[in-house]
Amino acid sequence: MATMESLIGLVNRIQRACTVLGDHGGEGSLWEALPSVAVVGGQSSGKSSVLESIVGRDFLPRGSGIVTRRPLVLQLHKTESGSEYAEFLHAPRRKYNDFAAVRKEIADETDRITGKTKQISNVPIHLSIYSPHVVNLTLIDLPGLTKVAVEGQPESIVRDIEDMVRSYVEKPNCIILAISPANQDIATSDAIKLAREVDPAGERTFGVVTKLDLMDKGTNALDVLEGRSYRLQHPWVGIVNRSQADINKNVDMIAARRKEQEYFANSPDYGHLAHKMGSEYLAKLLSKHLESAIRARIPSIVALINKTIDELEAELDRLGRPIGADGGAQLYTILEMCRAFDRIFKEHLDGGRPGGDR
Ligand code: GDP
Ligand code: NA
Ligand code: MG
Repeated sequence: MATMESLIGLVNRIQRACTVLGDHGGEGSLWEALPSVAVVGGQSSGKSSVLESIVGRDFLPRGSGIVTRRPLVLQLHKTESGSEYAEFLHAPRRKYNDFAAVRKEIADETDRITGKTKQISNVPIHLSIYSPHVVNLTLIDLPGLTKVAVEGQPESIVRDIEDMVRSYVEKPNCIILAISPANQDIATSDAIKLAREVDPAGERTFGVVTKLDLMDKGTNALDVLEGRSYRLQHPWVGIVNRSQADINKNVDMIAARRKEQEYFANSPDYGHLAHKMGSEYLAKLLSKHLESAIRARIPSIVALINKTIDELEAELDRLGRPIGADGGAQLYTILEMCRAFDRIFKEHLDGGRPGGDR
């Protein structure tokens, strides 16, 4: 058990297998039982920027207005080697080394379902990124909450977006990354409003404050960051993402992270919190939390995997063996995978020794 696969990596693989099976997280499904992190916030609050700084790469479509129109399930896989690439579930044989092409494919794949409209769709896009520079993590980017429909959108859009976001965050296994911009009053934050509704005790909500650099001179966000404005069980994290001007000047993510660190280290207001601020810290905090959330749920995950194994076996019996090179073969592969997961999870349950899965 020297190189026990990381728990998050395992869960990533099950989530993909589930998706192939058509399991998108319905009631009682395996998907639903697996913990993941959903990014929630108002339009332009900085959701995409936070995701990109966690990944350390530019790869998300951006622009004003509603850009994210389908859920993006983003699985980060930490690799040992230096190569860095992305892969979409809908195009499994293509490896993307160019992250500008990833951005274009997200936009194109969004349009394939919704058309070139401002409409939204519940059907997620699955993207995996393999890199030595990421932490193991599954993040779900969701459309931004808004207050009004714009030209070309049905009146129901405000409600539709909220319902879609709620369908993710209301699941008890969902870890909520609630993004609020520092240049707006926290009391009016869409993210906190929704998080409070589905997680009133603040047990699975991570509060993130973006745009600290854009606050009015003479003001600061200490009341929020130190938990006095709105209490959560987890610490609040402050972030300074790239400004639009930085993006226009092509400031890369490495330089942006360095600038962010310097901002906190040199800030008279936040200097004492510098070691608990910024996107790198946030990524580590989330990964650690996700891993312990998964660990706590291993017994129920194992139970659901076994239920899935039973269902797959019944389905295979129905199809009749031996199986041809059609859907049956795929089911069989997934069945084998489930059996392997069952084994490895049980090892985690028995062993779970430190160092084995860090
Ligand atoms: P989203 O709509 O929530 O995904 O927001 P984006 O990440 O696309 O950000 C919206 C705009 O705000 C972009 O122009 C970003 O450059 C800018 N922005 C986001 N976070 C920050 C920040 O911390 N500081 C500054 N100055 N600008 C930011
Ligand atoms: Na946006
Ligand atoms: Mg966005």
